[in-house]
Amino acid sequence: MKVTVIGLGYLGATHAVAMAELGHEVIGIEPDPRKLSALSQGVLPFHEPGLDTALTKTLATGKLTFKAAHDAESAASEIFFICVGTPQRAGSDAADTSYVISAAEDLARWVGRDAVVAGKSTVPVGTAAELKKRMDAIAGFDVHLAWNPEFLREGTALEDSLRPDRIVVGTFDQHSVQVIKNVYAPILESGTPFLELDVPTAELVKVAANAFLATKISFINAMAEVAEVSGADAVALAKAIGYDERIGNKFLRTGIGFGGGCLPKDIRGFMARADELGVGSAVEFLRNVDQVNLRRRDRVVSLANTELGEVSGKAITMLGISFKPDSDDLRDSPALEIAQRLQAQGAHLTVHDPVSLVPLASRAPELSSEQDLMAAVKSADLVILGTEWKQYREVDPAELGELVKTKTVIDGRNVLDVARWQQAGWKVIALGRNIQNG
Ligand SMILES: NC(=O)c1ccc[n+]([C@@H]2O[C@H](COP(=O)([O-])OP(=O)(O)OC[C@H]3O[C@@H](n4cnc5c(N)ncnc54)[C@H](O)[C@@H]3O)[C@@H](O)[C@H]2O)c1
Repeated sequence: MKVTVIGLGYLGATHAVAMAELGHEVIGIEPDPRKLSALSQGVLPFHEPGLDTALTKTLATGKLTFKAAHDAESAASEIFFICVGTPQRAGSDAADTSYVISAAEDLARWVGRDAVVAGKSTVPVGTAAELKKRMDAIAGFDVHLAWNPEFLREGTALEDSLRPDRIVVGTFDQHSVQVIKNVYAPILESGTPFLELDVPTAELVKVAANAFLATKISFINAMAEVAEVSGADAVALAKAIGYDERIGNKFLRTGIGFGGGCLPKDIRGFMARADELGVGSAVEFLRNVDQVNLRRRDRVVSLANTELGEVSGKAITMLGISFKPDSDDLRDSPALEIAQRLQAQGAHLTVHDPVSLVPLASRAPELSSEQDLMAAVKSADLVILGTEWKQYREVDPAELGELVKTKTVIDGRNVLDVARWQQAGWKVIALGRNIQNG
């Protein structure tokens, strides 16, 4: 099939490559000239394991090409996926849907009568109905609009796109259902559940899923707050409750909390939309979820100050700066916020991260960085583990201990082998735990 993907960020670039991998003829549309030129040359403008090689491979087959947004009209396709951003609106909790509106309205000026427009961006419930009204008015006919939310996770994005847990589609008409079933046919043939829903439910599935995941993380982090003052151990607690299959052990690790370009802005956008609909109290608990999450960042800043007397003038090394491992996404990263706050309090921060130092240089130029892990911890008064990259979990604490000034580590993700670090002479401080250091 001829497929167009509009917006080539984390979601769109992955989706375009995945569609080409399925055998479709794909055109990717992107207004940012730097992203467009990188992608056209087979260079991924962000880090995503496996996607770089898949991009090169699909480009070589000729199944994937790219066009600038102003040249989009020549992209005649059977289906157009809208994958543009829906960030948090400045000065508000609400989602900024202006990019989605603008992409949909542009498309409505020239889209064919039989083509399907499938929105994949995460939007407030009710957005698709509003878009349909606008698109129909511009096109002068009944546009085939559908909503097909995306559940990929950065770090495993391509795999998630090719082998999703489920495909959710909300449609206004049967033609759209058929075209969407055709485009995903190779995935559906392998037994992936296909959920054909009404449009508002499809929009809500995505924000509800993210709200649930955020709540689960903040639940265990709330338990961590209680554990910290009661002598309990939130890691052991999480393990114990996780054995109950109704609870499950995933997304139950205590630490500095969630971040990234989805969960924080999606729960805030959900609260704002629910307010507009007059049911703000139904999701008011998400305010607590957000606050518990942000308090974990305060906790690390406070622990660092307690540990160092005060942080001003002290050398602190942050290991990991992206919001999660296997990604270079710095959007609302807890590690980045903690590093910036400590630096603002006068500490000398050195940041190490396996892949995020290039985006970090433009995002937070005030922070020094080191590509070499050993050089990054040299003479540190305090080491903070901010992102659970594998290489930090596996590093030899004895080797690191030779280089630092003070062997104190705050494990912001509860992934270090405490006994091993303590044997190497480290004082280990972790969130939600009362670790006895000798
Ligand atoms: N990143 C994820 O893991 C993920 C997962 C699931 C869903 N989502 C959702 O997908 C959407 C996109 O997220 P993202 O992380 O890829 O954002 P992003 O900021 O990385 O990418 C958005 C892209 O859209 C482009 N764009 C903006 N306006 C455009 C237009 N009119 N025409 C064409 N392109 C345009 C931007 O230049 C940018 O490259 C959001 O709604 C997000 O919530 C993201």
